[in-house]
Amino acid sequence: MIQIAILGFGTVGTGVAKVIAENPRQIERKLGEPLEVKSILVRHFKDGPFRQLMTDDFSKIEEDGDIRVVVEAIGGVEAAYDYTRRALSAGKHVVTANKQLVAEKGCELLALARKKNVSYLFEASVGGGIPILHPLTQCMAANRIDEVYGILNGTTNYILTRMVRAGASFADALAEAQKKGYAEADPTADVDGIDAGRKICILADLAFGRQVDPERVPMAGIRDLSLRDVKIARRAGYRVKLLGRAARTAGGGHTAYVAPHLISEDSPLAGVEDVFNAVVVKGNATGEVMFYGRGAGELPTASACVADVMEVLQQSPRREEIGWSPESGGFTDPLELESRHYFRIRGSLSDAVGAFGQAEVLDEDGGTAFLTDAMTGREALERSGALEVLACLRVLA
Ligand code: HSE
Repeated sequence: MIQIAILGFGTVGTGVAKVIAENPRQIERKLGEPLEVKSILVRHFKDGPFRQLMTDDFSKIEEDGDIRVVVEAIGGVEAAYDYTRRALSAGKHVVTANKQLVAEKGCELLALARKKNVSYLFEASVGGGIPILHPLTQCMAANRIDEVYGILNGTTNYILTRMVRAGASFADALAEAQKKGYAEADPTADVDGIDAGRKICILADLAFGRQVDPERVPMAGIRDLSLRDVKIARRAGYRVKLLGRAARTAGGGHTAYVAPHLISEDSPLAGVEDVFNAVVVKGNATGEVMFYGRGAGELPTASACVADVMEVLQQSPRREEIGWSPESGGFTDPLELESRHYFRIRGSLSDAVGAFGQAEVLDEDGGTAFLTDAMTGREALERSGALEVLACLRVLA
């Protein structure tokens, strides 16, 4: 019998307990022994089938030599960081879906895990149920990774889909996403691009092997996105999606950011709707590889957590050996990246042409919506300086 503990009993913690309770035979067949949840750390005791496993005293878990793996499902940084360090220091493997903690402290926690000869795994922190970190760092290990981008937040993708397809209001669509357990405890992290930003930092850390400081990564969400621009883009053959993007830049640097983009309707990402996420990885040997699936929700996220638990117990190659240097140099402003840009201005086509030389007009009803040629974000900003800009979005190449 292998025993584990779960810290926190919200969406992810509950999902982990359920997956272990519902799939005992599949798990035992792969581990060679049954897997059992011995303790669940909670702040408030809740009635239900797991009531007798609950404790509010972390030291009981920390000191219990029978508990080999701790699933940290508290979220946030403070208590989660403290308990993760204590669990690793006590020689226990730690598995988590906590993207904030991994984005901010992952490199340090991996170093502590290495020192203690245990593992710190966090597959569920990016893409919910989609296997992405393991394929990125293991299956694509022979590549130089040049770019990673994708739809990384299920809540905002759900909101955009419901607004466009069902005409739902922003507030109603957000309430539905919360009810389904997709949103963060504070959904502003979803809506304002911060959740996707933490995920793109983790992807960039692993893709480029260097710590990317979330503080330096520009994160824009969908709060200011106008349905008008979504509709103009749609008529022109584009979809608007919130993307996280990390790329190598000229001169050996790298960059990362989150922003809404126009995506051609021919792109596989354009058809990614509802809570689904998709991540595209560009390797120099593989070319583009896309990963697609449910990016949030109780059971998909728990599936990735329990798989990590099983991996540390099977003693497969240890992923904390991945080169992730605490050195944070080389970060470049994403304004240096080139792309076409979508603008909607209060002005005429000749104003647009005056600023940009040429413009592909998309709409001229009460202003002008147009696409520019490819140029850096900085040049687009400078050229549009004298225009009254109502909307500006990058177009994914
Ligand atoms: N709030 C997150 C999302 C949960 O909507 O994608 C999964 O990380």
